[in-house]
Amino acid sequence: MEKKNIDWGNLGFGYMETDKRYVSTWKDGAWDEGALIDDPMITMSECACVLQYAQTIFEGIKAYETVDGRIVTFRPDLNAERLANSAKRMEMPVFPVDRFVDSIKQVVKANESFVPPYGTGATLYIRPYMFGINPVIGVKPATEFQYRVFTTPVGPYFKGGAKPITIRVSDFDRAAPHGTGHIKAGLNYAMSLHAIVDAHNQGYDENMYLDPQTRTKVEETGGANFLFVTKDNTIVTPKSESILPSVTRRSLMYVAEHYLGLKVEEREVYLDEIKDFAECGLCGTAAVISPVGKVVDHGKEICFPSGMDEMGPTITKLRETLTGIQMGTIEAPEGWIVEIK
Ligand code: PLP
Ligand code: COI
Repeated sequence: MEKKNIDWGNLGFGYMETDKRYVSTWKDGAWDEGALIDDPMITMSECACVLQYAQTIFEGIKAYETVDGRIVTFRPDLNAERLANSAKRMEMPVFPVDRFVDSIKQVVKANESFVPPYGTGATLYIRPYMFGINPVIGVKPATEFQYRVFTTPVGPYFKGGAKPITIRVSDFDRAAPHGTGHIKAGLNYAMSLHAIVDAHNQGYDENMYLDPQTRTKVEETGGANFLFVTKDNTIVTPKSESILPSVTRRSLMYVAEHYLGLKVEEREVYLDEIKDFAECGLCGTAAVISPVGKVVDHGKEICFPSGMDEMGPTITKLRETLTGIQMGTIEAPEGWIVEIK
């Protein structure tokens, strides 16, 4: 299959319309059989539940061309499971795990010419999502839903790729205690829009959100979990009930322990201890693992010893190992890589 004529090496993290998308509808208590369609537009009632009450959830996953020319995806079962958890919390129907994985395979295959070639640094981002579509005016869940999947080729999430970024401690919260921070609901991202615009206006790349109850503990950013490296090379990641359980973070913790022989800790991380860490990274499907050089806490600069010029040595090793597993140059743990073609 001939690849599209795209400047793969210079892609940012943006939307590009691709050829096909998948749609399945839930009506009268059941999912239909689902289909690939051409039309990227969605028509719905002005009173659709998603428009009035934000009943929408999503996932983010990637397809990779491997060194030997296969097309694969990474741990889609975990995304299927997380979408199911999001659906339950949002009073939406669960899309079965096997159908989720099958829908991903179908959409990626149908857009094969958009899968960036191995070695370009770009990947095919896959966005599964589900929303309530029938008219709802009293506050209650929808009774009809669409599950959809589209794809778009992407480059690095942060401009500059692997260059360290500067983030600020946010005065805004993205999640509440006992709220929805642990699921991937559109409403969490709506909560973060003002904070990210404000951060960008002040010259920062991202927000570090603190726990909304005590404002003393590190939670996550708007789109990634934190990983810290201690001066004696232990990997530390925040434990919290109100952050998204990142597939990338869970995978990196496994890689750190079982591939790199490092000690790993998932525990509460206090803002006032981050000055003692050697390296800091943001991990997620879009972010992969992006280095943080500096955190600014209300004018006070916390500079990691890894600096603002390049990624620190441990985060570099973690990134190389994870992307090696994803691109087929390093053997993957059983079940992590799902072949599409
Ligand atoms: N945290 C938030 C708020 C996110 O939006 C994401 C992105 O999906 C992540 C963390 C990283 O999760 P994952 O590694 O599963 O993509
Ligand atoms: C992802 O990493 O897949 C996300 O959904 C995060 C978002 C910032 C793009």
